Amino acid sequence: MNLMQTEGMMEDDLLIQMIDEVTASTIALLTEASEHIIRSGGKRTRPKIALFAYEAVGGTVPAETIPAAAAIELIHTASLVHDDINDRSNLRRGQVTINARWGNAAALLTGDFLFCKAMKLVARQDPRIIEILADTCIRIVEGETRQLLSLENLEIDEETYLEIVRQKTASLFAASAEIGGLLAGASEDQVRALAEYGLNLGVAFQIRDDMLDFLGRPEELGKPIGTDLRQRKMSLALVDALQRAGGRADQALFRDVSSVVQFLRETGSLEYARDKSCVYADRAKEALSILPNSPARMRLFELANFAAERNR
Ligand code: IPE
Ligand code: IPE
Ligand code: MG
Ligand code: MG
Repeated sequence: MNLMQTEGMMEDDLLIQMIDEVTASTIALLTEASEHIIRSGGKRTRPKIALFAYEAVGGTVPAETIPAAAAIELIHTASLVHDDINDRSNLRRGQVTINARWGNAAALLTGDFLFCKAMKLVARQDPRIIEILADTCIRIVEGETRQLLSLENLEIDEETYLEIVRQKTASLFAASAEIGGLLAGASEDQVRALAEYGLNLGVAFQIRDDMLDFLGRPEELGKPIGTDLRQRKMSLALVDALQRAGGRADQALFRDVSSVVQFLRETGSLEYARDKSCVYADRAKEALSILPNSPARMRLFELANFAAERNR
């Protein structure tokens, strides 16, 4: 077990305990389905970011972050439950998805339930935190909707791709870091720096995630590969490759993962996406230069590197 895994382990237990408590329902299906996806694990990257952001600006009572961090993890999990319905996916966090086990309607309702429980968890917190989370939920849905409207659009440009990524993914990472800072009573400048860190890390994280859709191993990822490709969902590497190819794409290209990978290698677009992901991770780290050096800031740096380099 490395340092990053042992750090904050106690908080992780408390986090799960709080999520368990809040997702218990008189409707057994909702309790069971919620427990199923929460027990499946996940990396808990966003709660870690909230905790380390809190500590990096001088917060000394880590348990203070738990309700907001649990809400953030619930929002994220809810978005995955809904995403798996749209993707018709049957594997998530190494386990069968809720839609595959209980059906789409039950999965839709479980996702709704998790979103609402997240709001309940922070209902009595600082109104700034509630507003950030509400705005973030709106951005996630807007990003997902923009993505839906641009499926199969092979002419989507890099800026549009990045804007979708900022909305659907990076906004929640930004909120995690920002909220960690607010809970610790950080200055306005520090909170702004943390939000900037989260936003850039989130972009690196999604660029890498999109690459893993054709480079990853399902056993390691805990989810299937080729899902985005099947839906013609754009990734940075594909956006770049199609631009280089003058917008011409042979539909046969999408036949299987290996022909796409070959195309992306030939155009140099895999390298391009890999570099861009690192650029965003570097920007995330640079944003933290105004914070004093500390073990927590180091953890935040490590998470930025992880976002760009991860295989799971
Ligand atoms: C997956 O997020 C969805 C994206 C935003 C790419 P994670 O990779 O953080 O999923 P878990 O929580 O670890 O399962
Ligand atoms: C995550 O993006 C979208 C959300 C914010 C829900 P993906 O669609 O890439 O997530 P995975 O790959 O299914 O985990
Ligand atoms: Mg998906
Ligand atoms: Mg993905």
